[in-house]
Amino acid sequence: MGSEPKLNLLLTKDEIAIAVTRLAAEISRDYRDKNPLLIAVLKGSFVFLSDLIRQLDFPLEIEFVHLSSYGKGTESSGRVRMAPGAPSQIKGRHVLVIEDIIDTGLTAAFLLDHLRRKKPASLKFCTLTDKKERRRAIVNIDYRGLTVPDKFIVGYGLDCDEMFRHLPDIYALEQ
Ligand code: IMP
Ligand code: MG
Repeated sequence: MGSEPKLNLLLTKDEIAIAVTRLAAEISRDYRDKNPLLIAVLKGSFVFLSDLIRQLDFPLEIEFVHLSSYGKGTESSGRVRMAPGAPSQIKGRHVLVIEDIIDTGLTAAFLLDHLRRKKPASLKFCTLTDKKERRRAIVNIDYRGLTVPDKFIVGYGLDCDEMFRHLPDIYALEQ
């Protein structure tokens, strides 16, 4: 192993909180009377989801899907794996996918294709962070929190090899 990775502060918890509050307002405006099904992508989105839903004061349901494309390290393998136990009652529901980050877009494209085949009444995509520069798949982002530079980021649920998810702020990893 090399030396300890260096973390450079990128987004403070206050900046994140402002973005989450704005997203909650946008989602509330669009879903108040729709009893939406929020599908959060594990593991990374669990911190964002828990802050977001506590600002949504209308009926909704929550499901989780466990996807992974990264093995170890910071480069996407390009192959997306879905763990068993994915939500099944999608038909006719207003589905909103909740992600921590969109990078190449391969994970989102895979999940949205999968869900679309189950005939939801509507299907939209919300991400806390968007690493725009690295997009390889075309994905329509309906709710975007913060744009981030082409750096590997950790904290607020985001990990590097399962480390740093618990940090309240978001950091760029210096490699
Ligand atoms: P994509 O398929 O390349 O868009 O990557 C999406 C998934 O990769 C995300 O849901 C994250 O789990 C992970 N990921 C992408 N970029 C980062 C990063 O900078 N930090 C931590 N995880 C990341
Ligand atoms: Mg993720």
